[in-house]
Amino acid sequence: MQTVDSIANLFSPVKLGPYTLPNRIVMAPMTRLRAVGSIPTSLMAAYYAQRVSAGLIITECTMVSPLSYGYMNCPGIYSQEQVEAWKQVTEAVHAKGGKFFLQLWHSGRVGHPSLLNGELPVAPSAIAGSGTLHTPIGKVNLETPRALEIHEIPAIVEQFRQGAENAMAAGFDGVELHGAFGYLIDQFLQDGSNQRDDEYGGSIENRARFLLEVVTAVTSVWGGDRVGIKLSPSNTFYGMRDSNPQATFSYAIEALNGFNLAYIHLMEPNEIDLATREVLNPVLPIFRPIYKGTIITNGGYDKLKGNQVLSSGDADLVSYGKLLLANPDLPRRFQVDADLNTPDPKTFYGQGDKDLEKGYTDYPFLEAQPA
Ligand SMILES: Cc1cc2nc3c(=O)[nH]c(=O)nc-3n(C[C@H](O)[C@H](O)[C@H](O)COP(=O)(O)O)c2cc1C
Repeated sequence: MQTVDSIANLFSPVKLGPYTLPNRIVMAPMTRLRAVGSIPTSLMAAYYAQRVSAGLIITECTMVSPLSYGYMNCPGIYSQEQVEAWKQVTEAVHAKGGKFFLQLWHSGRVGHPSLLNGELPVAPSAIAGSGTLHTPIGKVNLETPRALEIHEIPAIVEQFRQGAENAMAAGFDGVELHGAFGYLIDQFLQDGSNQRDDEYGGSIENRARFLLEVVTAVTSVWGGDRVGIKLSPSNTFYGMRDSNPQATFSYAIEALNGFNLAYIHLMEPNEIDLATREVLNPVLPIFRPIYKGTIITNGGYDKLKGNQVLSSGDADLVSYGKLLLANPDLPRRFQVDADLNTPDPKTFYGQGDKDLEKGYTDYPFLEAQPA
């Protein structure tokens, strides 16, 4: 039974893998599309360093392969130039004492030939996701992807492994696998996007194979305890669906117990998911009894709800997306119950190479930071 003293709140220190974090406020991964030419910049270093009072920062999703180029000016971690450029970002965060994980990402079917030098995006099956993308030729619908041949899959697992190694060379403290939101790992896992009839499709065990192979590859680089994975069992983005999400995600999460991971990062449904169709809601109580390790919960939290979920014991840390985007000093604001800046969706994503600071590094702090 929890005693009053042992009840966690957002400001209780916590062990995460080998690290001790000063608080349980995590910056959720957020794509900001300001890596011009997919190369990280000094502006990105400034942005992440501003948010360093969060116990852990997770980067925006970062390509492990050029075929993952779903969004213009998203960063990569597959070339030497990218690795070198990330170093200024990790150094800026570490100079201020932060802990920093890189989110490894393959977009799979979320792509378009106009972003991929004319190539089709790849996926478990030739089933198009729903939705649109901004491309050099304007706004386009998602293209029907090319189904990966079975012999091509090991090379993609290897891209994740190499990305993990590159993240280590760039100075990160760990990596998070993007297994959420309808991208490649999620596409293999859910049967709405995976209709393969080989050992990567059909049964839940087969659909989870790609995810588990990637986890195995990445933990071979970092060990389990500096690797996390984000999952979104109720996400409907890009037309994602599964005929039995409770069974599918229970299997995957049970299997993840075997890796001694730093954490799993579980997303709750958002308003669009809830309005789209029936989804698992809330997610956390379903999977908490299955997962034996650390859980970061995400989705729509404020200070009160964050403290409530921590004191319930259903999660160990809480990640904040939009609130940390708009409030670089969110932990301090929570501590003193200050008003919060409002996130401006118009500047969530960079457009081209102009005005990139706007809505990025210019959200005000509560008061000027001491020099
Ligand atoms: C601008 C923006 C970009 C995002 N990009 C990513 C991403 O790159 N990777 C990811 O896993 N989630 C991404 N997300 C989702 C967030 O990590 C988070 O799950 C979501 O915002 C819900 O948390 P919140 O209610 O605290 O904002 C993004 C969200 C926003 C607002």
